[in-house]
Amino acid sequence: MPHAIIYPGTFDPLTNGHLHIIERAAKIFSHVIVAIAESTSKKTLFDIQERVSLAAHALTHLNNVSVSSFNGLLVDFAHQQNVALILRSVRTITDYEYECQLAKMNRALDARIETLFLTPAPEYAYISSTLVREIGLLKGDVSRFVPAATMNALKGKFEN
Ligand code: COA
Repeated sequence: MPHAIIYPGTFDPLTNGHLHIIERAAKIFSHVIVAIAESTSKKTLFDIQERVSLAAHALTHLNNVSVSSFNGLLVDFAHQQNVALILRSVRTITDYEYECQLAKMNRALDARIETLFLTPAPEYAYISSTLVREIGLLKGDVSRFVPAATMNALKGKFEN
């Protein structure tokens, strides 16, 4: 079986769209490291411990998947983990342009790093963490979009 791969993101929170990508990647790669960026340009609803714990809870059924947080450059984290593959998901043409830029920049920072892409299944292609948070805030039903524990965590955040 091929190598380990890193699936990085903000995961605020991890959605069923991410989960489906990870489940598919776990069948292709020996090990999938879900790498949760501690500080990004995004202002997150869930802090880093919450994002790691919600992701880990959703992934317990996959024994070749682990969850880590990282700070700093993704290529440095990849180097520390001794992994040269990064996985990203491309949902739309807009994603594609941004993802190409990210992949090229990561390769410019470290020429050993390759980025691979998976496209989501159509039923997940419209999900984003931002929309899920917004639906949660407005007390809508997110049960189809996130794992059950995440749905409860979202309810908890917006209770008051
Ligand atoms: N299913 C559901 N949602 C998906 C998805 C899928 N298959 N694929 C992508 N998404 C969503 C994500 O949830 C996210 O939604 P949001 O904007 O509502 O939060 C969005 O698509 C992708 O967001 P984006 O900002 O492109 O990426 P990210 O938040 O997932 O992660 C990092 C970006 C963390 C990978 C990147 O900022 C990084 O590497 N940071 C580390 C610092 C660094 O190295 N910087 C230099 C980079 S060259």
